[in-house]
Amino acid sequence: MKRSNDLIMLLVSKIFIHTIEQVMGRVRNTGMSVFLVLLCCICLEFCSATNTITASQPIKDPGYIISNNGSAFKLGFFSPENSSNRYVGILYNNISVRTVVWVANRQKPLRDSNGVLTISEDGVLVILNGEKEVIWSANVTNSAPNSSAQLLDSGNLVLLENTTGTILWESFQNPSDTILPTMKLSANVRTGKNVQITSWKSPSDPSIGSFSCGIQPLSPPQVFIWKNGSPYWRSGPWNNRIFIGIPDMNSVYLDGFKYGDDPDGSYYITFDFVDKSYLSNFALDSKGNLVQKYNGVENIGWSALHTECDVYGKCGAFGTCNPKNSPICSCFKGFEPNNTEEWNQGNWTSGCVRRTSLQCERVNTGGEEGKRDGFLKLNMMKVPDFAAWSSALENKCGEQCLENCSCIAYAFDTGVGCMSWTKKLIDTQQFNTSGVDLYIRVAYSELDKARDVKKIVTITVITGTIILFICTYLLWRWVANQKARKKKATEILMFNREEAQPKFHSDNLDQVKLQELPLFNFEKLASATKNFHLSNKLGQGGFGPVYWGQLSDGQEIAVKRLSKASGQGLQEFMNEVVVISKLQHRNLVRIFGCCVEGEEKMLIYEYMPNKSLDAFLFGKNY
Ligand SMILES: *[C@@H]1O[C@H](CO)[C@@H](O)[C@H](O)[C@H]1NC(C)=O
Ligand SMILES: *[C@@H]1O[C@H](CO)[C@@H](O)[C@H](O)[C@H]1NC(C)=O
Ligand SMILES: *[C@@H]1O[C@H](CO)[C@@H](O)[C@H](O)[C@H]1NC(C)=O
Repeated sequence: MKRSNDLIMLLVSKIFIHTIEQVMGRVRNTGMSVFLVLLCCICLEFCSATNTITASQPIKDPGYIISNNGSAFKLGFFSPENSSNRYVGILYNNISVRTVVWVANRQKPLRDSNGVLTISEDGVLVILNGEKEVIWSANVTNSAPNSSAQLLDSGNLVLLENTTGTILWESFQNPSDTILPTMKLSANVRTGKNVQITSWKSPSDPSIGSFSCGIQPLSPPQVFIWKNGSPYWRSGPWNNRIFIGIPDMNSVYLDGFKYGDDPDGSYYITFDFVDKSYLSNFALDSKGNLVQKYNGVENIGWSALHTECDVYGKCGAFGTCNPKNSPICSCFKGFEPNNTEEWNQGNWTSGCVRRTSLQCERVNTGGEEGKRDGFLKLNMMKVPDFAAWSSALENKCGEQCLENCSCIAYAFDTGVGCMSWTKKLIDTQQFNTSGVDLYIRVAYSELDKARDVKKIVTITVITGTIILFICTYLLWRWVANQKARKKKATEILMFNREEAQPKFHSDNLDQVKLQELPLFNFEKLASATKNFHLSNKLGQGGFGPVYWGQLSDGQEIAVKRLSKASGQGLQEFMNEVVVISKLQHRNLVRIFGCCVEGEEKMLIYEYMPNKSLDAFLFGKNY
């Protein structure tokens, strides 16, 4: 529209000049003064379309000036959408989407269309309202009475000292919400003066909103978006080429960035695009997102807050974010939620805490030692905030960290160098294609290596236990078998006549008792009875002789030796045992044991010389 207006104006003036020439041809002398007056008018008309404001050439709403060459920008009065307030601002000149890149009186709008932008008597750029009151002025430190304002092709509005050309003030040093190419976001470490952009309150209100964006020049430098002064987004460290916390920054649309410092102690970040066929800028919108616009259009380029994970510290300290996961937050390996309930409800701000304290901490606090701490490697990460930089080379970076207990993580990027962290790890996320490897210090037991060892140990222990158990069982079985075999041998000897068994049981003598009946070995009995010497013979029973003997402990015994030819079978033998056991119960005669060895079968009794044992022993029934 404006362009066609200009054309019409040009056309009109050309026709006008042509007419004048014709007129002059006719009345050369008389019309001279008229011509001069007209020329002045034309000049004024044209001058208003130049790029300069002076005390004598102010701009009055709705007038404007246009930058010189590409006519890319214009400076004039505008109203935001859904607002009747008037502001002075810089807008793109030639694009269809109205795009405001700078606002002068953002905190103090004009209520009507009577505003004027001019140079005051003391040489300061000012906005006057209808009542000629100053409602805005450029913050000039050293004003000069002879000055003018110029809109440069870059979109920078500068206040110049006319004779020397010194810049007294510039809009690029006092930006609104937009960074234009070649503009610098800066921070001066000496004076503390920062050049930051600040968001509008809302799309219809350019006054300063909650968000600001600027650089933190500490090494390594980062770009931040702050919400009411607290970090809201972070670019990650600058590595002399890209910000390593911005995924895919290698892509074309983000090339052309430069970080540098000026001799006055200010560090800055700036950008410029090789391809100037489109107009590109970065604007901090009223919701806090830094958005790249092409020809005034957003949503086609890059934006800082792309996913929830881009919000600073979304997952709290020692928590990490991955937009592909559900939930997006998780604790680092070896860490657990600080507040499980909150965490499970999706409030991750209190973050995570270490599960197993570090070995170096335990040692420092006098605790038990242990295996040395190690590092867990996390691939393709946005590195945490608060990185400390050191000149260590790649191979020394981890070593240096391990040696200092206060170092809890490190990362190495060839552009940045060695980074380490000491307090907390905050604002990390998992990238898919870019990012750097982050190494987190954890106790030995949390390491994969330790886990493997643990696994191996566990498996070994379990296997060992099982094998041991099986062996023990087999051994027990073998011993039991042996015992059983021995017993069976005895029993076979004892019970080789099947009929004996029921009697045996019905006689209320349980097997345990029988088993408890001690077995004497033959040698012992032989030596007790002096090899069954005749002098020891007490008498001869039905089934064999009875000998007196004395055991090594002095106990006197009577041994009934069943003769091989006695005819007393095992049944009789067992019956006797049973009967004597019964008698023993009545305390008449005590049986000490028996001896079954090979062909020999013997019963050993307590020797009771004064009792009528003889009859018992030598009874005809036996
Ligand atoms: C004006 O500039 C001075 C120094 O540059 C600064 O201290 C002051 O805060 C500025 N005032 C405003 C209103 O921006
Ligand atoms: C999350 O937890 C923090 C601290 O525990 C609390 O201050 C905050 O209000 C919680 N946020 C929400 C959304 O519940
Ligand atoms: C360990 O690191 C901290 C923090 O970086 C530093 O202040 C301290 O001097 C270091 N200690 C040693 C022994 O290097």
